[in-house]
Amino acid sequence: MVNCSISIKRWYHICKYEFIFMPEYKIIVANWKMQLTVSEAKQQALNLKKLLGKSKIDKNIEIVICPDFLSLVEVADIFKGSRVKIGAQDGFYEEAGAYTGQISLSDLKASGCQYVILGHSEKRNLGETDIVINKKVRAALAHGLTPIICVGETFEERKEGQKDLVVMHQVYQALHEVRLKPKQKIVIAYEPVWVIGSGQAIGSADAYDAALVIGQSTLDVFEKESHGSVSIIYGGSVNPENIKDFTGLPNISGALVGGASLDAKTFVSIIKNI
Ligand code: PGA
Repeated sequence: MVNCSISIKRWYHICKYEFIFMPEYKIIVANWKMQLTVSEAKQQALNLKKLLGKSKIDKNIEIVICPDFLSLVEVADIFKGSRVKIGAQDGFYEEAGAYTGQISLSDLKASGCQYVILGHSEKRNLGETDIVINKKVRAALAHGLTPIICVGETFEERKEGQKDLVVMHQVYQALHEVRLKPKQKIVIAYEPVWVIGSGQAIGSADAYDAALVIGQSTLDVFEKESHGSVSIIYGGSVNPENIKDFTGLPNISGALVGGASLDAKTFVSIIKNI
């Protein structure tokens, strides 16, 4: 790959896409990964519901909880009728058939999901390709689910100066032939792979630059058709102390939170500090 970060910088400084794109609301997504048993997930959902009920939280903040598949129905039940939305951590693009181990997007929707995380680096690491991610993104939209598409570079790619190119490539591939209908939304999470679970987030200037690249790439794909319907969020070692470094930026409208979402108090502090 060639290093194109200089030309991209020249180019995106001219493009003030953030004023065209940024939606009004903020979004905070909890990714519980495979960290909790079903009973722990239920307990975590009950704790969170109680705490959220007692907290004053801006109504313009969308809260999304992504439990594992097995806990999903019960967690969705606990949050039924509340402001909390449910997301899945993956979903398969085919409707039904001989696909051992897969879960259909229509079943996820019927189980109470409104969001689905796609292309997380932990899935890419297990072999998920950009082509598969693109199929899932298109299928998710067709089923009325909002995809949360994860993109981000590895440490080696960053060291080689490939960060911007990797992120652009992942965005272009994920959105290939995607057409947004009115009211459809897409969330793109910038998650530098090397920072996930490390306890050490990147700096806000770095996140701002990556969000510019993502925003410009979505503008290339959608032109103006996506006005207000693409949210860019940051993920990777987010905690109550650093959340504002990201959500305070003009081009980042939320966060994808892993480890720090496993404790209800900490997660609510993150939401409050957004
Ligand atoms: P982390 O995970 O907050 O534990 O770094 C984020 C993610 O993987 O989505």
